[in-house]
Amino acid sequence: SVPPGYRHTPQTQFRHGDVRAAQRATLEALAAQIAASPRSVPARLGAERLLGTRLAGSRNPAHRDVVVAQWADHDPTIVEAAVATAERAARALGDLGLAGRAAICERAAAYLADHRREIVATEVLEAAKPWVEADNDVGEAIDFLHYYAQMARRLERADRLDSPPGERNRLHYRPRGVTAVIPPWNFPLAIPMGMTAAALVTGNPTILKPAEQTPLTASFIADAFEAAGLPPGALVFLPGRGETIGQALVEHPQVATIAFTGSKAVGLDIVARAATLRPGQRALKRVIAELGGKNAIIVDADADLDQAVPGVLQSAFGFAGQKCSAASRVVVHRRIRDAFVQRLIEAAAELPIGDPRSSATVVPPVIDDEAQARIRGVIADAADAATLAWQAPSTPSEGSYVPPTIFVDPDHRAPLWRDEIFGPVLVVDTADDLADAIDRANDTDYALTQGVYSRSPSSIRRVVDHARAGNVYVNRPITGAIPGRHPFGGFGHSGVGFKAGGPSYLLQFLDQQVVSENL
Ligand code: NAD
Ligand code: ALA
Repeated sequence: SVPPGYRHTPQTQFRHGDVRAAQRATLEALAAQIAASPRSVPARLGAERLLGTRLAGSRNPAHRDVVVAQWADHDPTIVEAAVATAERAARALGDLGLAGRAAICERAAAYLADHRREIVATEVLEAAKPWVEADNDVGEAIDFLHYYAQMARRLERADRLDSPPGERNRLHYRPRGVTAVIPPWNFPLAIPMGMTAAALVTGNPTILKPAEQTPLTASFIADAFEAAGLPPGALVFLPGRGETIGQALVEHPQVATIAFTGSKAVGLDIVARAATLRPGQRALKRVIAELGGKNAIIVDADADLDQAVPGVLQSAFGFAGQKCSAASRVVVHRRIRDAFVQRLIEAAAELPIGDPRSSATVVPPVIDDEAQARIRGVIADAADAATLAWQAPSTPSEGSYVPPTIFVDPDHRAPLWRDEIFGPVLVVDTADDLADAIDRANDTDYALTQGVYSRSPSSIRRVVDHARAGNVYVNRPITGAIPGRHPFGGFGHSGVGFKAGGPSYLLQFLDQQVVSENL
């Protein structure tokens, strides 16, 4: 059940002129500052700020020549000092108790709320997040802090065990030890904050290695916990590359837990590396791995197309499809297939594509040139495996844009149908009846999100009963899970672990100990 003190943070109402003007002023001021000089993102080990000698840059996806932030590109040797710093802070963090740490999370949430406009502006410039999506990301980070603070308070009371006369049995929770948090760039505040808050509130000194593309956004997490009074060193902020710093963290003998969100390929590599026992290692590592998806929406013969068409478009093309939860496949009933595809194309043609500095943008550029080349390659290769139904005729010339693209009638053996694309590419398949639609939607090893549009309760029930997905959405978009309302996460190849923003999530950061006392 939802803890009584928890409330979802409302969205900022950009439809009000004064709210929009205030956000615009913050965004333009930050853009001007960055144009004059990129921000600097050092590693933070306790009171030390370490920029080192080698710098790397995060770039604005809409203007690839603009370096948003220069981050410290340290060698993996820094991991030794990072782990030592975190370990030194373990006692101070433990002494706070669950209640003290929960209070720190709530103060960190207040800090984010106070800096919301600035963080939104940073996400627009560093990740090309459209305004509303950036604002949702900050809201979700605040939600995670409040939700995990409340759930941590509950753990203090979770000690009831059967105790016969003459014996008292209690269940205790103990922090597991140094935790490495390794997030992706696509929810650049909420995802790292969720994993970091969970690790800290349960008493684990934590090392956060942000994604290379979005370290400036993630640095607000370190700011928030510092402002909230977290003991120095309990959160080490360590920008770095995945294959150097990330890998060294995964392999370090004193890192007990790895909270990873990202691609299946990297997740599998981390799980394999974490399984090797190294000299001096006293704990078997636990890996929480939240991975990708190949998500489908079923549009049944009786679906309300006024709902289904915008719902599919938002799920597929919002933030250029760069969400693990995004729709990349639609399975539509043969009876309405032509009408649905026609309306889908007409509506897709109206989507605003461009620089998210405009508040109207829905489809921004993808995160970087590498992603742009990869997704354009997928589209080119798909020509042999499906029929191109529509593609946006033009995109801005500057920036890493990929035109939103819709294919129909895919070959089910092709990567277009099977692999996560993580871009604005949608494929529409046709089913003869609901049973066929369910089989097609489930035709993937991933199991993250799935949706259904239907007006028939019995059809909805059938889809829900058979959906192979961790989060199933009925007559609504399949993205935008809210902590506490839609605990989020998949199974199959979509990951291992309890759902983020759900009642069991914190338990993964704890070991259990039972004390049986003869009275
Ligand atoms: P990615 O796997 O390339 O990188 C994720 C993180 O792993 C980054 O911080 C990166 O530096 C680090 N990393 C890379 N190689 C590493 C290594 N060898 N050892 C340790 N760390 C390493 O993913 P991405 O491109 O940042 O994000 C997109 C992926 O994330 C998509 O597959 C998407 O579906 C997935 N994702 C999943 C969820 C979820 O909740 N299931 C949410 C968001 C994104
Ligand atoms: N939690 C994110 C969503 O639901 C991934 O879209």
